[in-house]
Amino acid sequence: MGQRGVKQPKGQDKNIQEELKRHGDIPTHIAIIMDGNGRWAQKRGLPRIAGHNEGVESVRDIVETCGQLGVKYLTLYAFSTENWKRPKEEVSMLMRLLMRALRDETDKLHQNNVRVHTVGETSSLPREVQDELRDAIEKTKENTGLNLLLALSYSGRWDITSAVKRIAEHVHQGKLKPGEINDQVFSKYLSTRDIPDPDLLIRTSGELRISNFLLWQLAYSEIVISNSYWPEFRRKDIYEAIGEFQKRERRFGMVSEQLHSTKKKNNVLKQLFKSVPG
Ligand code: FPP
Repeated sequence: MGQRGVKQPKGQDKNIQEELKRHGDIPTHIAIIMDGNGRWAQKRGLPRIAGHNEGVESVRDIVETCGQLGVKYLTLYAFSTENWKRPKEEVSMLMRLLMRALRDETDKLHQNNVRVHTVGETSSLPREVQDELRDAIEKTKENTGLNLLLALSYSGRWDITSAVKRIAEHVHQGKLKPGEINDQVFSKYLSTRDIPDPDLLIRTSGELRISNFLLWQLAYSEIVISNSYWPEFRRKDIYEAIGEFQKRERRFGMVSEQLHSTKKKNNVLKQLFKSVPG
């Protein structure tokens, strides 16, 4: 068996990726609201599920590209708490699609050194989906490349209320004092506890909402909206989004001069994001 590692880019891809890496910082954590599958299908006179099917191709391409670029965390909003309210047939088709995608892709993800995680209330997913997820997580748990977080049955309010419940329990049990609660402590009770906050949030299909995604974690994320529907969002679109991200100045509430030199900026970032590993 060959050595595990990221499949290397070739030709134009290789040039663009090298240029992006030279030009500025590659975001450590990218979060994506994958939107527009239904509209993509509708525009082509196809059933909505055709959009979700094609959306899996985009997932494949974006995961591979992020791995090649050295992105450490990629969080995909694959199924929200609110998505349970969709017609029953669409929900069960999405679950089947997810199951099939996991079954078909886990080996390749493993080969590419990707580690799979989930965030969300996964216990409410069908048993077979939970089994596939457990297998994918178990198989890839030693991998050291891209961390792929699948947000499933997830919502930001669910994440925050779950954290509050556990904090209340710990206070009640005397494990935590109310005075000890600050934003760093609170973050440790969220489903993303050991993961740095997203640097970049991308939403596809031109919508301007965060739709109950990582409400706490997105506090200082740069937001890039792409007009492409998710099924047509491919590597060229993520290059564009990262290029846009690199043009932004992230001030974290400070003034421009405080961040002026790159060295200073990096130190400030390190201080601000103490939870960022390495
Ligand atoms: C939003 O489009 C998309 C979803 C709710 C599901 C996303 C799921 C996938 C791309 C497939 C499975 C994912 C993985 C990780 C393998 P929409 O249906 O809301 O589109 P619309 O706004 O045009 O109706």
